[in-house]
Amino acid sequence: MNDRNGPVVGIVPAAGRGVRLGQELPKAFVELDGRTMLDRAVESMLDSGEVDRVVVVVPPELAATQPEQLVRAPFSERVSVVAGGAERADSVRAGLACASDARFVLVHDAARVLTPPGLFARVVAELRRGSDAVIPVLPVTDTIKSVDAQGAVTGTPDRASLRAVQTPQGFDVALLSRANTDAGDATDDAGLVERLGERVDTVAGDPLAFKITTPLDLVLARALLASGARTAEER
Ligand code: C5P
Repeated sequence: MNDRNGPVVGIVPAAGRGVRLGQELPKAFVELDGRTMLDRAVESMLDSGEVDRVVVVVPPELAATQPEQLVRAPFSERVSVVAGGAERADSVRAGLACASDARFVLVHDAARVLTPPGLFARVVAELRRGSDAVIPVLPVTDTIKSVDAQGAVTGTPDRASLRAVQTPQGFDVALLSRANTDAGDATDDAGLVERLGERVDTVAGDPLAFKITTPLDLVLARALLASGARTAEER
């Protein structure tokens, strides 16, 4: 039988440029209260107790960076650093190439700095229970419209059937490797699995797992940290 108790390897694609935050640095290297988003995100994964080790995928010019320069001890001992590719999916592929020991992989955005341990636990539990692809989702609170190139509304999908998708996204490693070989323009890893016609399951997301994308998100994250939102160092 398929052993679903095997190792879980985290992959953090952090090789993008992050221009939307208006910073020079790749987004994952932007600091929040003196620690980078990458440092905080990787530590939250390892400290959750759900992830055995983490592969951090960085821009090629940073590939010689030592793990202890990215993540503080003792967590850095369980971190590997590899060079990313041109597109996000290329970077995930580079991470997968460094995860041959994995039974499952969790692909996680460094920018979801405040992701609580319980969310990693829910995703991993679903994988162990039998799912081969699982994503955390939240109900959508805004009404969502589709628009054409001129900005004219073309439709209003039923809000009750829509979900906002977060990370970590969890996969059977063989399934994601197969899905990732023909990545095209997919914006998330689960989308690649869907294209294969394979089932993707959902678990409840967490508002604290929001992605820091805009300067307003940075303000929110800093305020949450200042108000004592749970982080690995504070528990
Ligand atoms: O641009 P977007 O927010 O979709 O990027 C998601 C993540 O993918 C970011 O963390 C970014 O660093 C990463 N990425 C990557 N390699 C690329 C492009 C994006 O690892 N070539």
